Amino acid sequence: MFHGDTNKRKVFGLPEHATRTALPHTNGPRTHYNEPYRLYNLDVFEYELDEPMALYGAIPLVVSHGLKSTNEDTSSTVGALWLNPSETFVDVGEDSSGTKTIVRWISESGIIDLFLLPGSSPRALYQQYGQLTGTQELPPLFSLGYHQCRWNYKNEDDVASVHQKFEELDFPYDVLWLDIEHTDGKRYFTWDKRQFKHPVEMQQQLSAHGRRMVTIVDPHIKRDNGYYIYKEGHDEGFFLKDAKGKEYDGYCWPGGSGYLDFTSSTVRGWWAQQFALDKYKGSTVDLFTWNDMNEPSVFNGPEVSMSKDATNIAGIEHREWHNLYGQMFHRSTAEGLVLRHLPREEVLELKTSHPSDQVSVDLATVHRPFVLSRAFFAGSQRFGAIWTGDNAAKWSHLQIAAPMLLGINIGGLSFAGADVGGFFGNPSEELMTRWHQAASYQPFFRGHAHLDSKRREPWVFGEPTTSRLRAATMARYALLPFWYTTFYEASVTGFPVMRAMWLEFPQDVESFGLDDQWMIGNALLVKPVVQEGHTSVEVYFPGGTSQSARIMSA
Ligand code: GLC
Repeated sequence: MFHGDTNKRKVFGLPEHATRTALPHTNGPRTHYNEPYRLYNLDVFEYELDEPMALYGAIPLVVSHGLKSTNEDTSSTVGALWLNPSETFVDVGEDSSGTKTIVRWISESGIIDLFLLPGSSPRALYQQYGQLTGTQELPPLFSLGYHQCRWNYKNEDDVASVHQKFEELDFPYDVLWLDIEHTDGKRYFTWDKRQFKHPVEMQQQLSAHGRRMVTIVDPHIKRDNGYYIYKEGHDEGFFLKDAKGKEYDGYCWPGGSGYLDFTSSTVRGWWAQQFALDKYKGSTVDLFTWNDMNEPSVFNGPEVSMSKDATNIAGIEHREWHNLYGQMFHRSTAEGLVLRHLPREEVLELKTSHPSDQVSVDLATVHRPFVLSRAFFAGSQRFGAIWTGDNAAKWSHLQIAAPMLLGINIGGLSFAGADVGGFFGNPSEELMTRWHQAASYQPFFRGHAHLDSKRREPWVFGEPTTSRLRAATMARYALLPFWYTTFYEASVTGFPVMRAMWLEFPQDVESFGLDDQWMIGNALLVKPVVQEGHTSVEVYFPGGTSQSARIMSA
């Protein structure tokens, strides 16, 4: 229960949901949704907007911010972390007198592990939350630049020509991504030998121009004894089991797949070692990783996920740790990207005693990993970035991106982004432009598109679009030192990078509900144009007397 006039106090957090940052109520006099917010990591096909339904990630943190009832010249920020990774539902509402905000939790399993965060300022709250779950990992500088992805860049020539075009146009970018088709039959850590014959040379060509590459590595492992990852994992007994005690067999991109037990530190250590340069053939130190489908997604499982009665090596049912699975995978991958910098003998020495728990802090500081994950839980900020999954090339999806990212940032996870242009479908020239402009002021900045969508690299639409996209990207790069400094601050204090207005202006009651404008750090106010046909926006400037101004945009 949070005290204070509910007209001047709002509740935030509980990502990931496609909803407003200030959470609409699920019961009480101002009910907006008839169902509670659900926290259960799922791969949702073509997700609906304005819904309390579960999505890919779950952070069971609620933050209440508002004016104090005893003294309306001051504000208070308080929070509650319900540390439970099983399926959880949360109701948000108020009492009939409008003086109390009521949040109710129910989880399928586990113990009641409730942390109350007394705040009472936003910064104090994030210091408390950072102590509990860790602060944002400081990303390598390159990963704050622009990323170019699509499902799929088809072969080495395709990669070279996309790269070349960026160079010719003097269009800044840092990372070129390869999706699942680059592998030999969706066997991660391998290459399609016809399309990617020279992976090392391909990466070296990018590295020579200061660029990096990311390849996708998913957690479903093709059940094929001729595939070394599967064979070794199987022989070691590292896979999850079904209710009958047989190796869990789920259907995903490669067909029948096993799922490694990332709740086990032994398995995490083994997995981390797979990123060693001599193990991951064709990899270089300029290759980084994308962890997808880690809710986990199981195409023939209940709700496209894993049966709750599957068990881990310790014999504990999946229902107990469902929302943690993706994070443990993300963590182990990030550790692998650090461990690959250790001399091989040292890694082997670590083998017997859970290397993934022993990564040297110094090494991780020098060789910072970059891993993008789709699933997440409280604390995932320590392992890298996340994105909001399979959105669509629609204006409504551009509009919801900022409220979702603000909510994820309120959950302590700053390094977050949405697929620029929208994953499904084909954006118009105008939507592409507005999306790129907005995303250049959001923490993780990546263009991505579905296999069936048309090509949409920044030059595809021609002028004036290319120049507009380049100008937005240049603005991002001009501000990179500021982004980096703000991330550094987040890594020390836990305070979010992309800030809801009230985080910076906690007394400004008008700003509490705003989620179409935001702050980057404490210095930059952002309000993008996200309406079709519009060329200007009304910006709200906090500060005592409410003021707004109409700003024109190209
Ligand atoms: C999932 C991901 C998407 C990716 C696709 C193929 O749908 O969310 O980003 O392109 O899988 O790997």
